[in-house]
Amino acid sequence: MVHNNRVEPRTEIPAVKLPAALQSALWATRPDLLLARCRQRFGDTFTLRFAGLGDVLFVSAPEDVRAVFTAPPSVVLAGRGNAFLRAVVGRHSLLTLDGEAHVRQRKLLVPPFHGERIATYAKVIVEATERSLARWPREGAFETLREMQAITLEVIVRAVLGVEDPSERRRFEALFNDFAAIGNSAALLLPPLRVDLGPRSPWGRVLAVRARTDQALFRELDRRRALAASAPETEGARRDVLALLLSARDDQGQAMSDRELRDELVTLLLAGHETTATSLAWTMDLLSKHPEVLAKARDEVSRVVGRESPDASAIAKLPYLDGVVRESLRLRPVIPNVARIIEGELHVAGATLRTGAGVAPCAWLTHTRPENWPAPNAFDPERWTRDKIDPHAFYPFGGGARRCIGMAFALYEMKTILATVLAKRTFVAREGEGARVARRGITLTPSGDGRVTLTAPT
Ligand code: HEM
Repeated sequence: MVHNNRVEPRTEIPAVKLPAALQSALWATRPDLLLARCRQRFGDTFTLRFAGLGDVLFVSAPEDVRAVFTAPPSVVLAGRGNAFLRAVVGRHSLLTLDGEAHVRQRKLLVPPFHGERIATYAKVIVEATERSLARWPREGAFETLREMQAITLEVIVRAVLGVEDPSERRRFEALFNDFAAIGNSAALLLPPLRVDLGPRSPWGRVLAVRARTDQALFRELDRRRALAASAPETEGARRDVLALLLSARDDQGQAMSDRELRDELVTLLLAGHETTATSLAWTMDLLSKHPEVLAKARDEVSRVVGRESPDASAIAKLPYLDGVVRESLRLRPVIPNVARIIEGELHVAGATLRTGAGVAPCAWLTHTRPENWPAPNAFDPERWTRDKIDPHAFYPFGGGARRCIGMAFALYEMKTILATVLAKRTFVAREGEGARVARRGITLTPSGDGRVTLTAPT
């Protein structure tokens, strides 16, 4: 039984016996090895104990994942699980809210990321990719992660803030690049390190970047509100996410305050930029190691898109590339698990979790569960058109009331970037051992920044 943030030893739920500090250290440095070892020893369900956080029940069988994702949001609290992010994203962030306040913010934030809205960002995504391709070397070793980050950063700045002026765009990119790096700060994951010992200390640097970002965002909000007052028609025609958020009203007719807007903008930046870039770096890593898959994906792109820039209708006609992206998110989910803190009681995996206990559906394990995935470690894009997939066996974007609001946008962005790249460039795996799993803050990235070897353009 689990209560008061402790999982009582039970025969059904095994617990890792190492000291909490050692478990935390392994989790921070080699989470893939720790999870593989736990699965080998304990199977689908086990408890890890983290220093300062307590016990977390890891579940990976789809029926247990379903139990967590379909439980009432008032029982499985994600905002409390993300509380460590509050110092950066703020208390109005979708990530850190629970209850009514979360429902309100989510209703305001979801519309810009749905349906035909997404297709309006195609031009921005293709332009950012082409700008990046122009910087790639002709051939030789190439770190995919850096350029994927540059592309997704430009996409966020233009699609979310709507900043088009090149020098303004570069100013925001530089600022957001520093801000996103906060996500990798040890002080973010370990609150005891949050001591401001001046601008050169780790936490002092975080506070300085946060202050600069806030200042720039509040100034931009003032500018946009002034434009909306002086030129309502021009502003009303804008398609960026900020324009929608500025005009959004909740059920009571209330607009978002500047503080709320600031918190949601940095949330979109932190949640949407690094995750998408890292997923793309993993996709290129996997493609480089599977030349037959790469050849098929290129072939599909050249048949459907040719050497033109892909538009929204072309992206919808690439089922093999869609399988490539899903297969890569299956084998390398950049966020290996999500977390919920229990309020009340939840029955899952034969245990009763009570207030304060943590539970973590673990995509990293579910995604290669042999019972759900034939040949689980094979990179097989065709399985997505051939096999019936249990929706609770695949959740790189989390699930339930907290599922990623950027999912459709991210899938579309990944396919558009890959189609643009594959139309023009090809690459092979770097020599020697393949990339291993490295940690960067909360995401799992390919070691060596996803290095591949580019071959000369044909
Ligand atoms: C491949 C790229 C991405 C991956 C793998 C990813 C993954 C995730 C995951 C695992 C969660 C937690 C879900 C849960 O707790 O059940 C999440 C939440 C979230 N994501 Fe994404 N994400 C991606 C891209 C994006 C993009 C592009 C945006 C927006 C620009 C975005 C915005 C958010 C937000 C706002 C939340 C919080 C949702 C809530 O708590 O209600 N993400 N994402």
